[in-house]
Amino acid sequence: MKYYLTTPIYYINDKPHIGHAYATIAADTLARYHRLKGDEVFFLTGVDENGQKNTDAAILAGKGDRIQEYVDEQAAVWRNTWDTLDITYTDFIRTTEARHKKAVYDFFMRVHEHGDIYKGNYEGYYCGGCEEFIRETDLVDGLCQYHKKAPEKIQEENYFFKCSAYRDKLLAHIEKNPHFIQPVSRRNEVLDYIKNHFDDISISRQSVHWGIPLPLDPSHAIYVWFDALVNYLTGVGFGADLETFNRWWPADLHLVGKEIIKFHCALWPAMLMAAGLPLPKAVFAHGFFTVDGQKMSKTLGNVVDPLSVARDFGKDALRYFVLREIHFGADGDFSVRRLKQRYDSDLAKGLGNFVSRVLAMAEKIDCTKTTVSYQDGDGSNALETVQAAWHAWEESFKIVDFTAALEAIWEVMSWGDWYIDMKKPWALTKQKPEAAKEVLALLLELVRQVHAMIVPFLPETAVSIAHQLGLKSDIFSTLPLSRYQKWQGVPIGPIRKGDVLFPQKN
Ligand code: MSP
Repeated sequence: MKYYLTTPIYYINDKPHIGHAYATIAADTLARYHRLKGDEVFFLTGVDENGQKNTDAAILAGKGDRIQEYVDEQAAVWRNTWDTLDITYTDFIRTTEARHKKAVYDFFMRVHEHGDIYKGNYEGYYCGGCEEFIRETDLVDGLCQYHKKAPEKIQEENYFFKCSAYRDKLLAHIEKNPHFIQPVSRRNEVLDYIKNHFDDISISRQSVHWGIPLPLDPSHAIYVWFDALVNYLTGVGFGADLETFNRWWPADLHLVGKEIIKFHCALWPAMLMAAGLPLPKAVFAHGFFTVDGQKMSKTLGNVVDPLSVARDFGKDALRYFVLREIHFGADGDFSVRRLKQRYDSDLAKGLGNFVSRVLAMAEKIDCTKTTVSYQDGDGSNALETVQAAWHAWEESFKIVDFTAALEAIWEVMSWGDWYIDMKKPWALTKQKPEAAKEVLALLLELVRQVHAMIVPFLPETAVSIAHQLGLKSDIFSTLPLSRYQKWQGVPIGPIRKGDVLFPQKN
């Protein structure tokens, strides 16, 4: 099967912070999960370089009108960040690229030819921070409630997209496709927006010059959202390679933050309907992070740099923390204190300790050829424990519940720890060496199974465990997961206990 998933394309007016890394890590985890299942994955991420926000930032950075230079530098910062964090994107798209301009041009013309573009007068407010036209009723004391700035009052002759024409079709689509908007708790918000506020939208700006020129009138720039959303098509070849495009589109999943769900579940599908293209299968909106209980902001000086967290705790610990601590879809808090606690309890004393306990013993007694009955658990059963975990793991991925998948994996290790304490293999080695071998073979099998379960979440750790178990680190490129999941279905050894996986932090 093939699987096409996307992250939002990020504005490059600053460097990536932990919120951006959260969305990207989540998408990377899904991409790795699908690859592990044998799917062919296209994972698109990138940057949103047009619009007012980026121009303002270029000026602030002292670039004057050398905006291209600014966006080139910034795009490199974003890409390097994802490379440093081992994000396995298939393509990194920049909206100033020629391929994207061409795709937007073609897309616009399809919508125009369908009769959905008209000229009108726009009079109202625009918030450059939101890159959004806003209603007077949304202002608080005359200010944008998010950016605390007075929006620009605009009176311009603009081109409009007749999105209101798609209101009923959109509502019917959402009704018929219960999985289109996820989590379901976000549905009503979108439905309310479509029913009550989804008016025709101005899609060109006369006063903005950093953007894609409007095909009908190049003195206008295309509204940044109308251009940005099209990136999901450009990335898989729209406007350039029809065969590739038809192969990958529609996307299986757009992963976005909750603040941009309206754009993805109302404007974007309406645009696609107007262009006569199929809609994405699903949009999942994740929640927002605060930092130590406060909104992340430059002024407060509490913006968390994902690279520095990765440097201090490791890339896998960063991934583990954000995916385990905050229920995906809900809002959550990022705190280094909590990260340290989870690092200590779940990674150092949990996974790290379990693996090192088992491997230290298994290195001394050769048990890699010992077949073992999974019934051996004094009532509770290793195979059932592993199978229950695989089932929960699989079900959790279906609903993008990373926390539940991780909890299921940790259940296997808790069972393993209980089993070690009950069997006391170190005491068995002298009196009953055969029994000790069996106990350790069973424990090694648990480590082997856990190894596969953590592949999407903790890729570095998974490689290290594979190495310690004497498995090839790219074992899944040739072996289907279903074969790997069979009880003692894959030979292991020689065991080479490596360094501690998660060294204690002070
Ligand atoms: N450029 C638009 C998206 C266009 S998609 C066609 C945009 N960019 S953004 O830089 O503001 O990034 C938005 C995304 O970054 C959010 O949707 C979310 O995924 C992530 N986050 C930004 N701040 C965040 C938090 N504080 N917490 C969690 N995620 C956050 O909007």
